[in-house]
This record gives sequence, C-alpha cells and structure tokens, in this order.
Amino acid sequence: MKVVVARTLPAAGLQKLTERFDVEVGGLPFDRQWLYEHAAGAHAIVADPTVPVQRDLLDRAGDQLKVVSNFAVGFDNIDTEAVRERGLRATNTPNVLTNATAELAVALMQAAGRRIVETDGIFRRGEWVGWEPEQFLGRELSGATVGLVGFGRIGQRVAELLTGFEVELVFTDAQPMDEAAARHGAQRLDLDELLAVSDYVSLHVNLTPETKHMVNAETLARCKPGAILVNTCRGSVVDTAALVDALKNGPLAAAGLDVYENEPAVPEDLVQLPNTVLVPHVGSATRATRDAMATLCADNVIAVLSGEDPPTPVV
Ligand code: GLV
Repeated sequence: MKVVVARTLPAAGLQKLTERFDVEVGGLPFDRQWLYEHAAGAHAIVADPTVPVQRDLLDRAGDQLKVVSNFAVGFDNIDTEAVRERGLRATNTPNVLTNATAELAVALMQAAGRRIVETDGIFRRGEWVGWEPEQFLGRELSGATVGLVGFGRIGQRVAELLTGFEVELVFTDAQPMDEAAARHGAQRLDLDELLAVSDYVSLHVNLTPETKHMVNAETLARCKPGAILVNTCRGSVVDTAALVDALKNGPLAAAGLDVYENEPAVPEDLVQLPNTVLVPHVGSATRATRDAMATLCADNVIAVLSGEDPPTPVV
C-alpha cells in the first residue's frame, strides 16, 4: 500500500511507515504540485498544519484512499466534511503535545509580562545605561487573574502549571467542564466577562468558523487595561489588525504569539512593536514531543490500513 507524506515526518514515525508500506516523501519546502501528482493511488496521506487537504486532493488520490493522518493536534487544514462524505478517516496527534504547548504558553506569559525579549534587545544593542529604580517594570504572574479561552487538554495543563504562581483562574469553554473547573479551582465565565477581569488571556481553542477572529476589535476593547494576550492555538483566532491597534493604543500591554494568520508571513507592524514576543509556531517543538507525534501519526495510518480504528481519530 502507498503512503504519501506531504512534507516530512520525524524518523520515529517515518521508519514505522517505511517498514510496512511504500512511502513517498514530498520533502521541504512544501510542493503542492508534487503532492497532487503523488497523491494519486495513495492509501494514506500524511499532512500537517501547512498542508491544505481539500476535496480536490481527496478526489485526486482516488477511491482506495482510507486515511488522512495529520501531524498536529489542530486539523483546521483538513476539510473534515469532505473526509466524512467519502467515508474516510482523519486523525490528529493530541495528548502527546499537551505539555509542550502549555509550557510554551506559560513561557510567553512570563516573557511578555517581564519584557524579556524587549530588554534582551536593549542589552544586546548596547543601550543599557545601568540599573535604575523604575526601569523596565513588568508584571508578575503571581496574584494575576489568568483567563483561559478554551479549557480542553492544553488549557487545563496551563492551569496545572500555574499552580505554584497562585493565580486566579477563569475560563471559557463551549462545554460546562464542571469537574475540570472544580479540580483546577477555576471559574467558568463567558468571553466578555473573562476579558474584563483577566490580566493574562491565553487562547486554547480549535480554529473553526465560530472561533475565527473571536478576538477582534470589539472583544479586545473589553480587555482589562494592561492585559497581556498569549496565542499558542491558531493565528486566525485573532484579527491581527485589531491586535496591532490594541497593542499600540491599548488596552493591551503586550502579546506573546506562537501562531499567525498567514504563516510564515508575520505583519511588519507586529515585528516593529516592542511589546510583542514572537516565536515561530514552536508550541510542540521539542525532540521528545515531535517524536511522540510522529509515532502517533504513523500508528494512526497503520491502524486504519490494517482495518482497525485509529488511536486518535477526528473523523
Ligand atoms: C500544531 O500547530 C498543532 O496543531 O499540533
């Protein structure tokens, strides 16, 4: 059976696939034309967040196609409706990246709150004139109210990691999450209420038509003055133009971002602002996590092509 890897897959997963199947690997950078040519006759396609999997690609693959295995927890790059209509499976890589992504969210909260990148730049440019009593004042996490937008696996792990900081935790979620709320001592609010009280707002939702631009000019205007926004989920959950405005003119004090609307492009406005911490979509980027994701991604393919249920299906 033929497995087409749209770009690359760490060896931990690739080896499992090559031991069992005829594997064709597109390589980097992503070549859409290559994928369309090689998808024909594939039984499985391995994709990732940068690879759009739409009807035309599924049709191009043909009737023998069984599964689209995404090397990511997010699967907004896949037209799941088209997958369902064709009776195919689609899978993702949850759980194994929860901690790495949550740790990055906390790192961005602290980097933005304590102005780590801005002051590192000042230091490296030789602009530091020496210690001053009111220089480079930031804000502490301890005692802050942290608003988690989305209280799924990653949101809850952030809550756990923040335990030692003694923060007030509030969250929004489409589900009641009563048990998780009680376990983490967190209070469920609606989005407007959360934004009004949170010193830090951290986004942990899937990108869907409902969450696209859920952080926009109107919602940003409800944020507490001096609030810090952290985004480790998907760039399009935030309207970037509105974010830039809120960082320039308030109410936001700073933002820590791992994801962007049109990756890999990052608006120059964001880059120029001193109060942004910008990292290049590295939420799950540790050796152990990427290997675990690759293994799970391969296990999903192997299960479906063996006629079994995949470990982590989304369709
Ligand atoms: C990465 O962006 C992921 O969704 O895992």
